[in-house]
Amino acid sequence: MAESRLPRTSQHGPHRRLDETVVRHLRHPWRSPVRDYSRRAFDELAASMDSGSPLVLDSGCGTGASTAVLAAAHPECVVIGIDKSAERLARAPRLPGNARLVRAELSDIWRLLRESGRTLARHYLLYPNPWPKPGHLKRRWHGHPAFPELLALGGRLELRSNFELYVDEFARALMLAGVVDVKVVSFGADEPISPFERKYALSGHRLFQLTATVE
Ligand SMILES: C[S@@+](CC[C@H](N)C(=O)[O-])C[C@H]1O[C@@H](n2cnc3c(N)ncnc32)[C@H](O)[C@@H]1O
Repeated sequence: MAESRLPRTSQHGPHRRLDETVVRHLRHPWRSPVRDYSRRAFDELAASMDSGSPLVLDSGCGTGASTAVLAAAHPECVVIGIDKSAERLARAPRLPGNARLVRAELSDIWRLLRESGRTLARHYLLYPNPWPKPGHLKRRWHGHPAFPELLALGGRLELRSNFELYVDEFARALMLAGVVDVKVVSFGADEPISPFERKYALSGHRLFQLTATVE
């Protein structure tokens, strides 16, 4: 696997418009229409799920390798890997019976889950696209209008990234939303949970993990 480079940004710290962007999104519900393909995927998922099982989301699961690991680690839960890339999902490994993979847009699924009244036991965001240019703030999940939908699902949240600025901004956005127990650590990935974690660890990148309980 080719060595990967750390995301490069011209930002010297959290984006100067981070706070106002997050606060605006927290105050104003996002009204963009849900895509048809996401709605169909959600309906199929909902029909296949036992409504009593605790839910774990692996948002942006890529090939679903991490979904398989998480499903094995949480056999009492239904673990749902979501990604918009059909090409990545086609490379899924063999999955435990409590895992599902769904091709959909994350912001749509978060909203549909919230509208259906479901909440999460755990929510993983493993190596989300960094969007390092300052003009890309609203594409980072904490700067996206769907951030309140992510928060509404609750649960134990875990974000991992090799882009420290992303993690710091995400922590700040959680604080603005009133989440208090946010913890950020740098860690060594002895047993990588996902292909991107493996790639970044092999490239010698520092990896960061944010955890928080969202209520
Ligand atoms: C950098 S990859 C990380 C994949 C995997 N989590 C890993 O650690 O190996 C980011 C993934 O997020 C997915 N993704 C990005 N934006 C998305 C969106 N809006 N909806 C669904 N998936 C998205 C991409 O297709 C890609 O597979």
